[in-house]
Amino acid sequence: MTKRRIHSAQAFSGVLVVPGDKSISHRYAILASLAEGQSEILNFSRAADCRSTLGCLAKLGVKIEEREGRVVIEGKGLGGWERPRKALDAENSGTTMRLLAGALAGQEFSSELTGDKSLRRRPMRRVMEPLREMGAQIRARDDEFAPLEIRGGKLRAIEYAPKVASAQVKSAVLLAGLFAEGETVFREPVRTRDHTELALRELGASVERVADRSGEQKNEAIRLQGWPKLVGRPLTVPGDLSAAVFFLAAALIVQGTELTIQSVGLNPTRTAILDFLVSMGAPISVVALAMRDGELLGDINVHHAPLKGGKVSGTMVARLIDELPMLAALGPYTEEGIEIRDAQELRVKESDRIAAVAENLRRMGAQVEEFPDGLRVAGRSAGRLHGATIDPRDDHRIAMAMSIAALGADGETVIRDADCVGISFPGFYDLLDGLVKLGV
Ligand code: S3P
Repeated sequence: MTKRRIHSAQAFSGVLVVPGDKSISHRYAILASLAEGQSEILNFSRAADCRSTLGCLAKLGVKIEEREGRVVIEGKGLGGWERPRKALDAENSGTTMRLLAGALAGQEFSSELTGDKSLRRRPMRRVMEPLREMGAQIRARDDEFAPLEIRGGKLRAIEYAPKVASAQVKSAVLLAGLFAEGETVFREPVRTRDHTELALRELGASVERVADRSGEQKNEAIRLQGWPKLVGRPLTVPGDLSAAVFFLAAALIVQGTELTIQSVGLNPTRTAILDFLVSMGAPISVVALAMRDGELLGDINVHHAPLKGGKVSGTMVARLIDELPMLAALGPYTEEGIEIRDAQELRVKESDRIAAVAENLRRMGAQVEEFPDGLRVAGRSAGRLHGATIDPRDDHRIAMAMSIAALGADGETVIRDADCVGISFPGFYDLLDGLVKLGV
């Protein structure tokens, strides 16, 4: 496995593009393969996770062609997937497994979904419960973990309020809802990323978000009508804001730096990280706003400035869940440090991200206090970071967050098993290397 050596960086500037959004790429691929006719998808993510989704769809009989950076999918219609001859392997991708579980619940055949060691340890009952309520039969190890055996068929529409705020759970229920007669209602306590709803609408489904009150709780509900006619069409994936954030953070760490990142997805359910960085004093501006295929996108400009620090908790957590490792690693570069609470979900991601960030930041000399639901990373007054050997625990976002933190540390940092970044961001090191000389 590849090691990367990183030294502290001098001021840099540049204009860059990041890969297509991972969340949106998964959804476009799955929905295009359930639609009728062809969809040509531009800027489809080259992330290994999205490859896993394409691999599973191919095993379901979907014809997928890649032409000059475009992915062309021949839709099979809602009932057109074929029974797979082997288990479908989602590898490291939770989104692949949870979203496909929803779509497979509506198929008239049995299938098995499995994944790598990390994915086979992640909680799946959160999708099994609503899918069972809709009529699917699902078996899992310890009634929680993959492999999942799904016997699909006729589903009934349900009204569902999840226990955890999760876009993957919402998407699984909505995908299953395509195969249910009548209206499926999903009540969200916190608004999570809504790419599934937007893509469904683009392909012709009737789906709406309405204000909703059940008992004392004020919610928002998504209402989807079953058995829509989905029609394939050209789609373009915006750049991935969750990938761009590593470069925003690099600019905020290295004095004198200025960057523009072009054509980045700015869907308001994803931009809480920008609001938070701005609230800490980051000079970020957004220009060239545009709307494409129902998704907002634009260019982000950032330049270095001292950061104040701050706290993320409550309903905000779900809205910047993937950015929390990078945010925590910015802690030592802020005045007051960074505190993250109510983020126990971070413990069941590709790795236990609370433990992984705490351990690796401590190796670099940061002062970190760990809690069951988060951590507190002390600010600048606790001292400068120094180089160390980093164990990313096979987790792409940990490897990238620590690589960026190393740009402001004294001495050399070694990132072990650095190729795990390919899970969401192949080319991350080449892009970084093009901006700053990383070292040998
Ligand atoms: C994702 C939803 C989030 C996020 C993950 C991608 C998605 O997971 O952490 O990286 O594409 O729907 P949860 O739904 O588990 O919060």
